[in-house]
Amino acid sequence: MTQKTKAVAQKLEVITIDGPAGAGKSTVAKELARRLGVFYLDTGAMYRALTLKAIRLGLNLEDAATLVEAARDTKIRLENHNSGTKVLLDGEDVSEAIRSLEVTNKTFYIARTGGVREIMVGWQREIGARQSVVIEGRDVGTVVFPKAAHKFYLDADFEERVRRRVKELREKGKQVDEDSLKKELQERDHKDFTRAVGPLKVAEDAVVIDTTHLTVNGTVDEILKHINK
Ligand code: DC
Repeated sequence: MTQKTKAVAQKLEVITIDGPAGAGKSTVAKELARRLGVFYLDTGAMYRALTLKAIRLGLNLEDAATLVEAARDTKIRLENHNSGTKVLLDGEDVSEAIRSLEVTNKTFYIARTGGVREIMVGWQREIGARQSVVIEGRDVGTVVFPKAAHKFYLDADFEERVRRRVKELREKGKQVDEDSLKKELQERDHKDFTRAVGPLKVAEDAVVIDTTHLTVNGTVDEILKHINK
């Protein structure tokens, strides 16, 4: 660790990583947090966990007030272990369940609800106020921590993002239909970019990194170069 990267772990510092699905945010953010020795905060996991709860309870996903009430009544805890991040929804380990296709495709209901976003952002700020974090999501550099010490926006060509998703799903032993995956990713991009609240956009002071031709370690090295400047 250099003096500067050590300082990230010792001082209270926030590093934000935003970008579209499949740009490599999660793997990069996890590895970056590991190298810096700080907490990794996956904000997408929070939106996914609340979606899972709403589905299980059979809530009307179109009804903002119901979703806000559910959010107020929910405890989501993220734990980082060597084996991966554990997502606890009201005490239950839902780390696997929140990655299902149904949850992935229904999370936009939760994500577009302003009142729910306010609650999520509050939880994320609380975590970032306690310790240094690498936080990953769509609005973390623009809304959650607009004054973060270091901001990054990861992007990659659409075809490459599809390729990564296919690989990730196949590695998990899941059947993949590439055409429908492309369609899903396009739809998710559209929803992420056009949401009225907390849309995905590049923060003015973010460093944009195109990861299309970069490895995970190559991307982390690039980020560390900027942090150590
Ligand atoms: O990062 P992910 O794919 O796990 O996120 C799932 C969804 O959650 C994403 O499509 C949009 C939403 N999300 C959000 O609205 N704001 C964030 N900060 C993180 C995720």
